[in-house]
Amino acid sequence: MFVLPVHSTRHQSPRARPSWTRTAGLVGAAMLLAAMGSAQEKAGAPASPPPENKPAEFVGSTTCQMCHEDIFNAFQKSPHQLVETDKKRGWDTKACESCHGPGSKHAESASAADIKQPAKLQPGEADRTCLTCHRNQSTHSGRINSSHARNQVSCTACHSIHKNGPHGLVARKPAEINALCAACHTDVWASFQKPYKHRLPEGAMSCVDCHNPHGSALPRQIQTTRSNEPSCAKCHGDKMGPFPFEHAPVRLEGCAACHQPHGSANPRMLTRHEVRFVCMECHSNLPVPNPAANSTLGTVGPAIHDLRSPRFQNCTLCHQKVHGSYANRAFTK
Ligand code: HEC
Ligand code: HEC
Ligand code: HEC
Ligand code: HEC
Ligand code: HEC
Ligand code: HEC
Ligand code: HEC
Ligand code: HEC
Ligand code: HEC
Ligand code: HEC
Repeated sequence: MFVLPVHSTRHQSPRARPSWTRTAGLVGAAMLLAAMGSAQEKAGAPASPPPENKPAEFVGSTTCQMCHEDIFNAFQKSPHQLVETDKKRGWDTKACESCHGPGSKHAESASAADIKQPAKLQPGEADRTCLTCHRNQSTHSGRINSSHARNQVSCTACHSIHKNGPHGLVARKPAEINALCAACHTDVWASFQKPYKHRLPEGAMSCVDCHNPHGSALPRQIQTTRSNEPSCAKCHGDKMGPFPFEHAPVRLEGCAACHQPHGSANPRMLTRHEVRFVCMECHSNLPVPNPAANSTLGTVGPAIHDLRSPRFQNCTLCHQKVHGSYANRAFTK
């Protein structure tokens, strides 16, 4: 594949020349950039390429406008127009090339082979372009990190720079976000059609209430709130404590030890259809071959727990504070 040389964004760009006319501008830019090009060669490139194979140079957005009028005009209303107008990023008057790379060769040849098209790059490579400006930026759903790139999904799979118009760069409404994610995660979306679920199909919540599509310190891209707590805390703080008497799995395994967060056939989105079966997965007095191994699970209820008696089958009738208690270690209140 044709790979354009990487230009560091800020420091090597020519100064702004707002009064360019098109032709004079091109000549001027060519001269200026020829000088810059040689400076760059001295700084970085291992050997100077033969003249006909010279690296492409920056020509400015008005050059692109000549042949891509529609995109150029629509771009005036894009949030990225700030790149074109604001001097401090070093891309003023040549925003197009901040993502597409230097365009002189392409402007001459009009060949697709001579210009960088992020949508055709490997995800990691495409993301590098975006991350030159967006790395570590904080958003509603958390900081922007490498994101889905580990899974070969690039920024442009979720953010279309030109296609959806100036207001289509970011999906904002819960229903839009869900549709975006559901397009790839069909199995997850199916879970939200189960009887007990968070209200995503109704558009009351979205995937990014719980996940940061841009990466996370927690597994499964779980969004964090407060100090690295999983996102559930944002809405169910009362279940997270901190409690003087913690129920170990709430903290250690997390909510998904007992709940199916996307949706479930069981009331309370539990992993089992009856509460006691959830409990007995860890608290059962089934004989085990190696009692020592069982000690890593929960303890067994004392002898009063006659599990044949219906009275003892509804564990949370007595162990009401199953997420943790302020009162006692049996979680009865
Ligand atoms: C002389 C006319 C002309 C100019 C100037 C021009 N382009 Fe193009 N551009 C074209 C044509 C024609 C195509 C379609 C090429 C094809 O499909 O083979 C194209 C295609 C592209 C593509 C898509 C490439 C792909 O792989 O699909 C991008 C991106 C692009 N241009 C960006 C730019 C940028 C950025 C500038 C300014 C630096 C620019 N163009 C200037 C004529 C031009
Ligand atoms: C923030 C990065 C970015 C900037 C700035 C940008 N583009 Fe693009 N461009 C892209 C991406 C990504 C694509 C792939 C399609 C998409 O996401 O819309 C693309 C696609 C294109 C295409 C191909 C369109 C097609 O339908 O195949 C052209 C032509 C183009 N850009 C021209 C321009 C011009 C002209 C400018 C400046 C006015 C510009 N771009 C500014 C990122 C950018
Ligand atoms: C040259 C710097 C630069 C590059 C490269 C760049 N952006 Fe941006 N981006 C900006 C600026 C500046 C803004 C507008 C101000 C802001 O929201 O920070 C912006 C805004 C955005 C927004 C938010 C728009 C909104 O409505 O809040 C998204 C999404 C975005 N960019 C995605 C991308 C993607 C995807 C790429 C790579 C294809 C990319 N950007 C490349 C500078 C850049
Ligand atoms: C899996 C889909 C997905 C991927 C991949 C993705 N984003 Fe996003 N991005 C979103 C969604 C959804 C939002 C809106 C989040 C919200 O409203 O909380 C968003 C928000 C943003 C915003 C903030 C807009 C604002 O003002 O709040 C920026 C900037 C941004 N993304 C840039 C990027 C960049 C750069 C990449 C690549 C490193 C990227 N995104 C990868 C889905 C994605
Ligand atoms: C273009 C397809 C695509 C889109 C759109 C997409 N994803 Fe993904 N996502 C993937 C792939 C591929 C994987 C890796 C395989 C898997 O775990 O299913 C993945 C993985 C994930 C994971 C699991 C990560 C892990 O560590 O196991 C989460 C969580 C996730 N995506 C959430 C989202 C959210 C939220 C959105 C919408 C904002 C979204 N995805 C949009 C393709 C996509
Ligand atoms: C109520 C919070 C919540 C919502 C809303 C949510 N998730 Fe999740 N998601 C989780 C949790 C928690 C896990 C980890 C489950 C585990 O550890 O077993 C997870 C796991 C995942 C995974 C990893 C693989 C799997 O199936 O377990 C993917 C992919 C995923 N979610 C995608 C999505 C998508 C797409 C949406 C929106 C349609 C979404 N999630 C909405 C909390 C949520
Ligand atoms: C944005 C807020 C929000 C987040 C984040 C959130 N939830 Fe919820 N959750 C709700 C609301 C609101 C309900 C009430 C159910 C409804 O909408 O019908 C609910 C209901 C539940 C229920 C079922 C309660 C019942 O009475 O049936 C469980 C279990 C649950 N959530 C667990 C979780 C877990 C686990 C997480 C984190 C992975 C999480 N929630 C993240 C808002 C949230
Ligand atoms: C050890 C198993 C277990 C763990 C871990 C667990 N839960 Fe629960 N949760 C339950 C059981 C059992 C119920 C049903 C209680 C009942 O029916 O009386 C429940 C009920 C709920 C309810 C609905 C009832 C109410 O009181 O509002 C919510 C919301 C909830 N859990 C959220 C969470 C969140 C958030 C987490 C993680 C911080 C979590 N749970 C971790 C077992 C657990
Ligand atoms: C994922 C495994 C798991 C599940 C499911 C689970 N627990 Fe636990 N539970 C534990 C562990 C581990 C401890 C801590 C045991 C210890 O400290 O030795 C514990 C402690 C307890 C204690 C306090 C006992 C003590 O010795 O401190 C009670 C009471 C309890 N659990 C009740 C329940 C009930 C009721 C349910 C069902 C709603 C349940 N547990 C579900 C793992 C689990
Ligand atoms: C009728 C009320 C009641 C029901 C129903 C009940 N328990 Fe208990 N459980 C208690 C009481 C009271 C204690 C505390 C006994 C003590 O402190 O010696 C206890 C203690 C425990 C303990 C050990 C706590 C410790 O400190 O060692 C576990 C584990 C436990 N129960 C699990 C369960 C499970 C699992 C179920 C459902 C199958 C269940 N319980 C149903 C009343 C009940």
